[in-house]
Amino acid sequence: MQTPNRYMRDYTTLTLRLGFASFAAALLTQAGAASTPATADRLMLSQARFSTGDDMAWRAPDFDDSGWKVLNTTQYYQTQGFEGYNGYSWYRIHVVIPSSFKSSTDWPERLRIYLSAIDDADESYLNGVRIGKTGSMPSDPHGYESRWEAPRDYAVDLRTGIVRWDRDNVIAVRVYDGAGGGGFYKDMPYLTMPQRVDGLQLDAGQARHHFLADGRVQTTLNVRNNFPVVQRGVLQTEVRDVAKGRVLQSGARSITIAPEKSLALHWTWPTRLGIQVRYRFVDAISGRVATATHDLPYRLTPPDAPTPTLHGARLLGARPGTPLHYRIAATGRAPLHFSAQSLPQGLTLNADSGVISGTTPNAGSYDVQLRVRNALGDATRVWTLVAGEQLALTPPMGWNSWNAYGLNVSDALVRNAAQVLIDKGLAAKGWNSINIDDGWEAPARSANGEIVGNARFPDMTALGNFLHDRGLRFGIYSSPGATTCGGYLGSLGHELQDAASYARWGVDYLKYDLCSYAANMSKPPTLEEHQRPYHLMGEALHKQARSIVFSLCQYGEQQVWTWGASVGGSVWRMTGDISDNWISVQETGFAQAPHTRFVAPGRWNDPDMLVVGQLGWGDALRPSRLTPDEQYSHISLWSLLAAPLLLGNDLPSLDEFTLSLLTNHEVIDINQDALGMGAQRKLNQDDWQVWVKELEGGAKAVGVFNMSSRFRSTQIQSGLFGRDGQFQLRDAWRQKDLGVKSKNITVNVPGHGAMLLVVK
Ligand code: GAL
Repeated sequence: MQTPNRYMRDYTTLTLRLGFASFAAALLTQAGAASTPATADRLMLSQARFSTGDDMAWRAPDFDDSGWKVLNTTQYYQTQGFEGYNGYSWYRIHVVIPSSFKSSTDWPERLRIYLSAIDDADESYLNGVRIGKTGSMPSDPHGYESRWEAPRDYAVDLRTGIVRWDRDNVIAVRVYDGAGGGGFYKDMPYLTMPQRVDGLQLDAGQARHHFLADGRVQTTLNVRNNFPVVQRGVLQTEVRDVAKGRVLQSGARSITIAPEKSLALHWTWPTRLGIQVRYRFVDAISGRVATATHDLPYRLTPPDAPTPTLHGARLLGARPGTPLHYRIAATGRAPLHFSAQSLPQGLTLNADSGVISGTTPNAGSYDVQLRVRNALGDATRVWTLVAGEQLALTPPMGWNSWNAYGLNVSDALVRNAAQVLIDKGLAAKGWNSINIDDGWEAPARSANGEIVGNARFPDMTALGNFLHDRGLRFGIYSSPGATTCGGYLGSLGHELQDAASYARWGVDYLKYDLCSYAANMSKPPTLEEHQRPYHLMGEALHKQARSIVFSLCQYGEQQVWTWGASVGGSVWRMTGDISDNWISVQETGFAQAPHTRFVAPGRWNDPDMLVVGQLGWGDALRPSRLTPDEQYSHISLWSLLAAPLLLGNDLPSLDEFTLSLLTNHEVIDINQDALGMGAQRKLNQDDWQVWVKELEGGAKAVGVFNMSSRFRSTQIQSGLFGRDGQFQLRDAWRQKDLGVKSKNITVNVPGHGAMLLVVK
């Protein structure tokens, strides 16, 4: 599953920190005829013999591969003489594993074989014995499944005698590549021998946090023993105030964990900005240590008032005469009752749910007075329905299945996400789209050529109704190519038919992902070739009697921000896929500075979906790897950019911190502001960035980002946001007035963190 730009992209890899002792033995290695460089603690596997085709005899250690070509293991085979090849292929890595390797560890029972990532699926063998498999092949019972990004980290039990010490060993890797780049492409594979203490997993990133009423946080850390031996030692903890550079408390406890078991440990820590916990486990037998650190989450968003309050976008664009479903966003102690004055004919409001439904009136602008009340009072606000051709007048907000479920998405997961969006109070803040990404399509079209949902999506119309009944919007995904990025059916040659199917199902949003369409373009493609498939689908959607927001996904090629609207798009991806690390947030969000002047109502630059909460891309769910401060920056920046806000996390496991991050209506208001401006970067110096977004009515939102990893303070000149006299300052995250200021303001910002201010 490849997109053309993945071909060219330089992948950023996360360094694995493994506290292995070094060993001095000279490591003799070979890959085919070439030698492999070794580091003190690893046998690097830089080269392999390679052949296209598929023959299970190629897994045998003694198979003669001397006629095969030698490739390096960090670049697609297509860039090494096999241009354009997709399908089965094999790599054979030869490596002499010296017996001295065993003395490098206090527990010589496992050999770790790290094969980096393989595009798209692999099945790997050591000396003819299968050691692991990731993804699946077309010949497998359930068919092909790409897992191009997943790490291949296999372990071999040495007691089985599989390793041929001091002799040639062969790691044979059977690969299936669905499209685009194929085979090894990422960081260099290697072999290593873990220490006993490496079996102890102090996964601080997986810790769970529960905020207590007294302002502290209760942390539960699962300490896992991944090895079949007992782990015994002392676990030390140290709590630091990073802002003040002080240790606040420290402690130690003895722990024993049975083989392959885990232990849940609880602590109660202070919670405020800048609190860090360090864990250090000291193995009782070897004295070796395992360490982990995490920044504790802290909540800035104040709790919602019990009195009724209206939230969300003040504008909605819809095409005249098309079906409309809209959920009024409001908070306050239940039950809430809704009413609306001057609701155009053809629309009705459900007074209990706040769902407006019916048919969009004739072209024109309609001001509707919304009202919500409960036992404590009432609130009103004007909401404007603009019936016309322009959709997405404010950035789309909602949820998309990809970053959580990848290709394992199902009807049940989608319905559950929708219900949680409502039950946990996200819809009450304006999160209102539920978008299915790749993985819903059946392997074949019906007899009359229609696209249909696969076994996990038995009834698309019923799903659409389920969402619309709740006032939510229904989003779907396809590719202009023959297949999607995940290898599912695309729309090539069926554009109009697919648009009609979507309309019949009640679809309100289409993400259209270039993927395999790259094969239909010349190399390098022309602008016209890039536009053609989007133009075609844009027209097909327009022919439907629905308001379908068209989201272009071609990773920002050919300056899509300059022509996306001309092919009917309202949203366009600007970059390759985001992932949950700070470098990626910089390469997606912070890289937008040159392009934000193209942002306007109905023309949104999309730096990709949000990476907060529990993520997994179809693998086991785990918390975002962004620190709490990085997450505040991520949400602050996306709000300033007026970027589409599409959650990518598993909603049922939404934690308290993430919920607070996503339900701050003052932050959301910056994103949804009716002026529809993208922020401009006004300062980028000494690892400080200041972004300023014009808001309706003359106010400005100002984001101050500390790009360094240290807690720092600085003075921001008010000229940066165009004020020289006095101005009122408000902290959007804390929803707190900071008073009247003039000239400079002083800010204290944690490393990779942000302040989000509103200047009036
Ligand atoms: C990628 C796209 C992702 C996701 C995926 C599905 O190309 O950028 O956001 O849609 O394909 O296969």
